Parts: sequence; structure tokens; C-alpha cells
Amino acid sequence: MGTSITIAAGKGGTGKTTISANLGIALAQRGKSVTILDADIAMANLELILGMEGKSRTLQDVLAGECEIEEAIYEGPGGVKVVPAGISLSKLKRVNPERLAGVMESLVDRTDILIIDAPAGLGKEAYIALSMAENLILVVNPEISSLSDALKTKKVAEMCGTNVLGAILNRATGNEFDLTAHHVGAVLETQILTVVPEDSEVKKASAIGVPLVISSPTSKAAIAINRLAAELLGEEYIPPTTPEKKKSILQRLLGGLKLKTRSAP
Ligand SMILES: Nc1ncnc2c1ncn2[C@@H]1O[C@H](COP(=O)(O)OP(=O)(O)OP(=O)(O)O)[C@@H](O)[C@H]1O
Ligand SMILES: [Mg+2]
Repeated sequence: MGTSITIAAGKGGTGKTTISANLGIALAQRGKSVTILDADIAMANLELILGMEGKSRTLQDVLAGECEIEEAIYEGPGGVKVVPAGISLSKLKRVNPERLAGVMESLVDRTDILIIDAPAGLGKEAYIALSMAENLILVVNPEISSLSDALKTKKVAEMCGTNVLGAILNRATGNEFDLTAHHVGAVLETQILTVVPEDSEVKKASAIGVPLVISSPTSKAAIAINRLAAELLGEEYIPPTTPEKKKSILQRLLGGLKLKTRSAP
């Protein structure tokens, strides 16, 4: 039996799905068996970020009692397993969210780490994702509304006995109106696990449907996520080496001259 981590925020659009997908892959790339469950049944988009849209069986079918969970688990990029939520509006009507708890239990039995991409708010699916997981990571943007929603989410998780691992400060720009990691950590009374900067590579990655840690592993956001994956596993983080920039004609010429001088008798 493995462990489970719900990625939640309270507020919509803070980066829960981006973090779920990329942290899941980063953990899998470090040798763990990882399953990512999209628990955002109403507004699913994990499958889009992972480039896995259009699967025949999804969480919607499982929650509607129309298939078994085994049929809705797919091989995703970077070695993760993925349970897409599905995007059919007609199936949505037949879904029974109460079945989500059982799905989480059965998935955690077959994987080292189950990552649950929670919906925004505190509706039924979000509540089940928060209360049934062993651990919680909050995804907060550096603004007051995001912070206050994260605080509510944390309180609900604590009331349910879920262990709060900490918060990720996502989309930090460093401008003067941003809340700092220090502020966020102090208000939430939890540790800031990592600061992920605002990074245009994130949007590029979702536009091409290839997750950031694969499409742009040397981007600042990917480095922050990879570092967190290493820390969660208690491993040392070694940053990737950026490819050497092409030398200018002048540098090549000077290099050549140096070589000749050295080899001269
Ligand atoms: N670090 C970042 N830098 C730049 N853009 C980002 C970053 N993180 C997330 N985004 C962008 O923010 C938007 C929302 O991200 P995402 O879908 O992951 O949020 P969410 O919390 O899952 O949203 P929802 O509540 O709708 O499920 C996306 O367009 C994503 O590309
Ligand atoms: Mg999302």
C-alpha cells in the first residue's frame, strides 16, 4: 500500500493541475510508481495537460458504476499512470461522487504515490479528496484571495485528520504587490515547500500537450518542481546542466588561435 497526496487550493486556477501533472512525473522519473487521479469531474483538464484526451473509459464511468477502475487507468507520459476524469456532460449526470472514496482506496493499494488533482472549492468531490487522502499540498498564488481560500482548505483538511505537508507558492513574480513566501507560510502556519515562479514555459507546455518537466526540464518552474520531488523523497537534488550556448565566430577563432599557440614548440 502506498501513500496519497491531494493537491488542493480552494481557489480556482492557482495551478493545481499543473503541479499535479508535473510533480507526479517528477516523482515517477525518480523511480516511484505514481498514479495521478483527476478528481475534478466537472471541469477536468489533467488529460489536456498530459496530452491524453479522448480516452474511452474515465473516472466518470467508474463513478457512474459503468466500469471498473482497472479499465480507466492509462499509461501517461514520463512513466506515470493516469486516471482521467472524462469530459462528457451527459455522463456527468450519472456520476455518484460518493464512489470517489472507494476509488482512491483501491488506487492507493496499487501504487507507491497517488496524486489527487482536487477541484476548486469545497464541494463534494473536493471534500472527499481532502478528507480521504493521507497528505495535502496546498497550491497558493501570491495574492490575498488565494491565501484566504487556501487557509479554509487547510482547516477543513486538518479537521478531517489529513496531514498537511505544506504549501507551494505558485506563479510568483517577485513584484512589489506579491505576497512573499514568508507571508504565506506565516498566515497558513505551514512550511512553503517550494516557490514556483511565473514562467511562460508552463503555458507553452500545456499548449503542446507535453508536460513541462518533459518539454522544458531546464525551465525555472520545472527546476522548482523537480527539486520538490527530490525533497519529498529525501533525495539530493542535482540541477540539470543547461546546454552550452553556441560559441560565436570570434570565440571559435580565438579558441583556435589559443590551441595553435599551445601546441607550438
Ligand atoms: N508557474 C506558472 N507560470 C505560468 N503559468 C502558470 C503557472 N502555473 C500555472 N499556470 C497557468 O495557470 C492556468 C491555471 O493552471 P491550472 O489549470 O494548473 O490551475 P488549476 O488550479 O488546476 O485550475 P482549476 O481550478 O480550473 O482546476 C493555466 O493556464 C496554466 O498554464
Ligand atoms: Mg485543475
